[in-house]
Amino acid sequence: MSEQDVDLRRRRFLTGAATVVGGAGVVAAMVPFISSFQPSAKAQAAGAPVEVDIGKLAPGQMITVEWRGKPVYILRRTEANLASLKALEGNLRDPASEVPQQPDYARNEYRSLKPEIFVAIGICTHLGCAPTYRPEIAPADLGAEWKGGFFCPCHGSRFDLAGRVYKGVPAPTNLEVPPYAFLGDTTLVIGSDGEGKA
Ligand code: FES
Repeated sequence: MSEQDVDLRRRRFLTGAATVVGGAGVVAAMVPFISSFQPSAKAQAAGAPVEVDIGKLAPGQMITVEWRGKPVYILRRTEANLASLKALEGNLRDPASEVPQQPDYARNEYRSLKPEIFVAIGICTHLGCAPTYRPEIAPADLGAEWKGGFFCPCHGSRFDLAGRVYKGVPAPTNLEVPPYAFLGDTTLVIGSDGEGKA
């Protein structure tokens, strides 16, 4: 492939990406795709844990990192976000995370180790598209009931800000939570829970 072809493909990709994240209120989702390459690329592809510095992650902001070739969403939720989770329970298919899609330490009302930091694999449990982070309250296209969450553009599945799936959408289950741990206040390690398990 010539350099020109590569450039052209890259430009097309960037144009497409800008279109997908375009719109009000999704600025935080435009944070660059951050990959931490402390392990060699080969080790990482084989599943080595990935360390992520979340020191600059502002409330309401989400970043995406790659682990085992999958996107992992890391979101710093606000107090208002956390308060909204309880109110949504009647609209959700598995509000108490009874389906085993998370480590035991994330099987709680926030589906996380620390309430404000949410970590999930960014792959829709219907057919595998990447849900879009939609933090706005009641945007016109998602309706007055929307309190912020993840919306899958492929077939319309909806998840709340703890990755819990709404009733009546194609996705059968909540977003998966990978094993992870905190190494201090500002460093997360994805892919290991600090007990040697991955
Ligand atoms: S892949 Fe997400 S709704 Fe179908």
